[in-house]
Amino acid sequence: MRHDFWHERWEQEQIGFHQQAINQYLIEHWEELGLPKGAPVFVPLCGKSLDMLWLQEQGHPVFGIELSRKAVEAFFHENDIEPCVNETDRFVEYSSEGITLFSGDYFTLEQSDLGEIRAVFDRASLIALPAAMRRDYAEKMASLLKPGAHILLITMQYENGLLEGPPFCVEDGEVEALFGANFTIEKRGTWDAEGPRGVAVKESVFLLTRH
Ligand SMILES: C[S@@+](CC[C@H](N)C(=O)[O-])C[C@H]1O[C@@H](n2cnc3c(N)ncnc32)[C@H](O)[C@@H]1O
Repeated sequence: MRHDFWHERWEQEQIGFHQQAINQYLIEHWEELGLPKGAPVFVPLCGKSLDMLWLQEQGHPVFGIELSRKAVEAFFHENDIEPCVNETDRFVEYSSEGITLFSGDYFTLEQSDLGEIRAVFDRASLIALPAAMRRDYAEKMASLLKPGAHILLITMQYENGLLEGPPFCVEDGEVEALFGANFTIEKRGTWDAEGPRGVAVKESVFLLTRH
């Protein structure tokens, strides 16, 4: 999926994926990770997600990466936060008290950019990518995390052909195929949900632990 696709979505404000409320699975399942306050967390393909504010409120330094500079600037502007902006060769880095967002390409991130991340919140990130990119995404994620780090992962399932994607349908077997070699995978449940254009979908929540 080309970068242009996402830049256009942001430019044209076709951002139906953005949630006005904190993600309910995050609120319900975050405690299961057992993270201490102060443990750094990473939100890949973060958009302008308000979940990052919630994670910060739980006492976590938050790191995010997002292709669209417009999205990153909207996050800070809409939440009345004045970030410091620093341009490097790969990213434009926006940082405020407790939140650092990189504007740039997830696939160019290095572990040293993030430091020691203890947990990842993945909502609408893996499932935003087509199949071949999901493999690269999972490989990159494994390279960014040290043993013991967790991922709270939300996937979506729907009947073949009902939606074109993104969001893409990711079945449980694919989660196993993508992450099984590097992570212990625990499924926390599957629930009925409403997808784009009111389509009935299912959403599953997984807790992954890097080994
Ligand atoms: C479906 S949205 C989800 C955003 C966010 N996770 C949320 O819950 O609102 C996917 C986001 O990933 C961003 N994105 C896509 N490819 C990316 C990449 N290679 N690196 C960084 N961000 C990317 C897009 O610009 C878009 O904002």
